[in-house]
Amino acid sequence: MTRFQPGDEVFGETIRGYQWVNGGAYAEYAAAPECALAMKPANVTFEQAAAVPASALIALPALRGEGKIQAGQKVLVNGAAGGVGAIAVQIAKAFGGSVTGVDSTSKLDLVRSLGADRVIDYTQEDFTQRDERYDLIIDIPGNHSLSACRRALAPDGTYVLIGHDNYGAGMRRWVGLLPRMLRLMAMSLFVSQLPDVRVSMPDKEASMALLKELLETGKLAPFIDRTFALSDVPDAIRYLQGGQAKGKIVITVKGSADRGESTGPQQS
Ligand SMILES: NC(=O)c1ccc[n+]([C@@H]2O[C@H](COP(=O)([O-])OP(=O)(O)OC[C@H]3O[C@@H](n4cnc5c(N)ncnc54)[C@H](OP(=O)(O)O)[C@@H]3O)[C@@H](O)[C@H]2O)c1
Repeated sequence: MTRFQPGDEVFGETIRGYQWVNGGAYAEYAAAPECALAMKPANVTFEQAAAVPASALIALPALRGEGKIQAGQKVLVNGAAGGVGAIAVQIAKAFGGSVTGVDSTSKLDLVRSLGADRVIDYTQEDFTQRDERYDLIIDIPGNHSLSACRRALAPDGTYVLIGHDNYGAGMRRWVGLLPRMLRLMAMSLFVSQLPDVRVSMPDKEASMALLKELLETGKLAPFIDRTFALSDVPDAIRYLQGGQAKGKIVITVKGSADRGESTGPQQS
C-alpha cells in the first residue's frame, strides 16, 4: 500500500533519518523512502519545493524538537540568510515567534523580507554583547562559544547549535562539528539551556506534511538565489563555496519533459 501513484508530483529528500548524512541528490532519477516525501503543493514550482526539505528538515527539529518553540517567544537565528537560516526564520515566524536574524550587511534586506522582526549586522555588532535576551537561539555558523551565547539567553532559554565550526575547515576538516556537539551533549546533563539529548526527532512523514502545509499557506516561501543545470553542478558547488549565495541554490533537471513526462524533477 502506498500513498503515491505513478505520475504524482512529490517533493522530499532521499533519507529516512535526520542530520549527519545529507538527504539531497543530484540526479535525474533518485530512490526515496515514502516517509520522506509529500505531494508537491500546486502553488509552488518544483524549484521552490526542492529548495525546502534538506534545510527545513534541519531547521524544523531544531525549532520544534530541541528548541520547543512557543508562540510569543523571542527567537534569534544566527546565520539567518543562508540555506538553513532563511527557512528557520520563516518557520519560527509561522510558529508565532518574534524573530531576530543575524547575518552580514548585504543580506539583511533579505532577512527582513523573510519576515524577521529585527536584524543584526554581525560585521557591526556582536549579538552576545547586547542587553537583549532570547528564549531560543538557533546558531548556524557556531562562531560564538556557548558561554557567550548564554549571555544572550533568557535564564530558561535554549541554545541549539546547527552548523560546523568554520564549516568543518582547518583542523576539524574530518570530524566537523562532532567534538563540539559531543561536548554540548555531555554538558546538557548539567546546563538546562541545552536541549535534552534524549529528545526524539519528529516523525519525518509528519514533518513533510507540515512543510507541505506551510508552503500551501504561503508561510514558507523559499528564497532561491540561483538555479543551475545538472551539467553545471561543479559551478553550483563553487558558487556555494564562494559564500555569497543567499537562501538556496537549486539544480534544475531538464529532459523529462523531452521524454514526454509532464514535469522534470529538481533537487536542491
Ligand atoms: N543547507 C542545507 O540544506 C543543509 C543541510 C544539512 C546541514 N546543513 C549544515 O548547516 C550549516 C549551515 O548551512 P547553510 O546551508 O545554512 O549555510 P550557508 O547557506 O552558507 O549560510 C550560512 C550563513 O551564515 C552567515 N554567517 C557566516 N558567518 C557568520 C557569523 N559570524 N555570524 C552570523 N552569520 C554568519 C553567512 O553569511 P556570510 O557568508 O555573508 O558571512 C550565511 O548567510 C552547515 O554546517 C551545513 O553543513 C545545511
